[in-house]
Amino acid sequence: MRRYSRIAGTGSYLPPRRLTNADLAAELATQGVETSDEWIVERTGIRARHFAAPDVGSSDLALQAAQRALEAAGLEASQIDLIIVATSTPDMVFPSTACILQHKLGNAGAAAFDVQAVCSGFVYALTVADAMIQSGAATRALVVGSEVFSRLLDFKDRTTCVLFGDGAGAVVLEASDQPGILATDLHADGKHVGILCVPGHVSGGHILGDPLLKMDGQAVFKLAVGVLEEAARATLAKAGKTEADIDWLIPHQANIRIMQSTARKLKLSMDKVVVTVDQHGNTSAASIPLALDAAVRSGRVHRGQTLMLEGVGGGFTWGAVLVQY
Ligand code: ACO
Repeated sequence: MRRYSRIAGTGSYLPPRRLTNADLAAELATQGVETSDEWIVERTGIRARHFAAPDVGSSDLALQAAQRALEAAGLEASQIDLIIVATSTPDMVFPSTACILQHKLGNAGAAAFDVQAVCSGFVYALTVADAMIQSGAATRALVVGSEVFSRLLDFKDRTTCVLFGDGAGAVVLEASDQPGILATDLHADGKHVGILCVPGHVSGGHILGDPLLKMDGQAVFKLAVGVLEEAARATLAKAGKTEADIDWLIPHQANIRIMQSTARKLKLSMDKVVVTVDQHGNTSAASIPLALDAAVRSGRVHRGQTLMLEGVGGGFTWGAVLVQY
């Protein structure tokens, strides 16, 4: 009998400070940077985002999301034997945010590590956790996407600073003889490092290079729509399914136009796409589990439904996970 990893519970958390486009535009105007609600909504679909307070790190957001996911799964933190955090905004250079989260949860002994695949981080982390559960290396995994992307933003660059937000989402995966994650598909192409990056790093106690986000938006857009379709089709083929079997597409929430384009290519109506980018902005590795949890808690996603989760981001990285919820 096949050993599956099944989603036992989901959770998410947004820091309380919410900025509408108008709020952000007013703040940027004080620094001589001009933008508008109209421009942001038309080009991206984003209407608001949340920013964490300066003393709040990814592990703090992750803790709230993880506790909610554990509660939904009816499990205690001590029952988890694997913790993976997908983040590009770790609390420290090391140790991993997963280890810091583990301590805050009061778990000791579980394997804990971070995955760094930027906006694809959650599908990467889910795939690794699934493989470890299928192989018997783990039984109950906590998989978290958590970001304080606001820390990486250049608020003088209006082409990027209006796009991102902070937040965390989590799922508890459990070994089961019932499906479960049906198929996964991951890829990367490092030749595109320069189109989306934070090129700075720490060396000898100093920051070398620019530690703020740089993006060629149009190049990212073109690559994203192509690879998202490919990853979805490859994952469906591995599971012996077709687009018609998808109940919900839960894509990385970067831009409504990328999501509309992916849905069109997969012949899915937008009624089958979970959209949270309007309220969250792009929360990178947190965006898919945030969207999943919102859809579960609002009663849209039901047990037994087939969900296509897919992500794309810096690296360039991309991938998809097909799961029977
Ligand atoms: N407010 C007002 N005007 C702006 C803003 C802003 N915030 N940003 C750019 N503009 C102006 C530009 O200066 C330019 O003006 P000009 O024509 O006078 O030079 C004009 O708007 C058009 O700029 P473009 O960059 O050509 O705008 P585009 O339609 O490409 O939209 C965007 C930019 C939204 C970034 C788009 O390229 C995009 O969505 N790319 C995908 C990237 C993405 O979503 N990345 C997220 C991270 S990656 C990921 O998660 C996969």
